[in-house]
Amino acid sequence: MRRVAFWSPKGGAGKTTLALNFAAAANKAGYKVLVCDLDPQKSATDIFSENKLPFSVIPSQPAVMPSVDFLIYDHPPLMSSIPEVETIIIPMRPSILDLKAVSRALRAIRDKRIIKCINALDIRRHEERFIATKLYAQGAHLVRDRSIYVSSLAKGETVFQQEGYGAKDAQNEINRLLERVIAGN
Ligand SMILES: Nc1ncnc2c1ncn2[C@@H]1O[C@H](COP(=O)(O)OP(=O)(O)OP(=O)(O)O)[C@@H](O)[C@H]1O
Ligand SMILES: [Mg+2]
Repeated sequence: MRRVAFWSPKGGAGKTTLALNFAAAANKAGYKVLVCDLDPQKSATDIFSENKLPFSVIPSQPAVMPSVDFLIYDHPPLMSSIPEVETIIIPMRPSILDLKAVSRALRAIRDKRIIKCINALDIRRHEERFIATKLYAQGAHLVRDRSIYVSSLAKGETVFQQEGYGAKDAQNEINRLLERVIAGN
C-alpha cells in the first residue's frame, strides 16, 4: 500500500482539491483508493457526502490499516502536523509567500519523499511563470489554474467525471502526478 499525504503549511493551497482528484486518477487507473480527511474543516468529507465520488472518504485515521493500494491523506494547513507517510505532496500557489512558507516547513522534514506541486498556475502572469519555471527545473509538478477544478467540486465530483472544457487537460496533469508517485521519482 502507498500512503500519500497532501500537506502544506499554507491554507488554500489546493490540498483538498488535489487529494480528491489524485484519488480519482488512481481509482480510474484501477487502484483501490481510500481518502482519509484529517482536516477539522472536513471539506473532503463534505464533498464525499454528496455521494458522487467513485471512492470513499473517511473522516479520521482508520483504526486498522485498510487493504487498499492508495491511502491518501488530506491534511489541515498546520505546520505542526507533519504526516507519517512515505510520500508528501505539497501543493503551493505560485507566490513568493508560499515558497517561503514551504521552504521553512521543509527544514523540519527528513526521510520523506517530497513532491512540490505548483497549483493553480496562471501562465498569463509573468511572476507566476517565473516561479513555476524555476521550481519546475528543480522537479516540481505543475497544475494549472482551471475552472473545471472548482466547478467539478461544486458538483461533488472530480475532473475525472467531467467532459467539458479543460477536463482532459486537467485529467492529464493529475495523471502525470499519479504516474510520478507510482514511478517513485
Ligand atoms: N488548480 C486549480 N485551479 C483553480 N482553482 C483551484 C485549483 N486548485 C484549487 N482551486 C480552488 O482554490 C480553493 C482552495 O482549494 P482547496 O480547498 O483545495 O485548498 P486547501 O489547501 O485544501 O485549503 P485549506 O487549507 O483551507 O484546507 C478552492 O476554491 C478550490 O476550488
Ligand atoms: Mg483543505
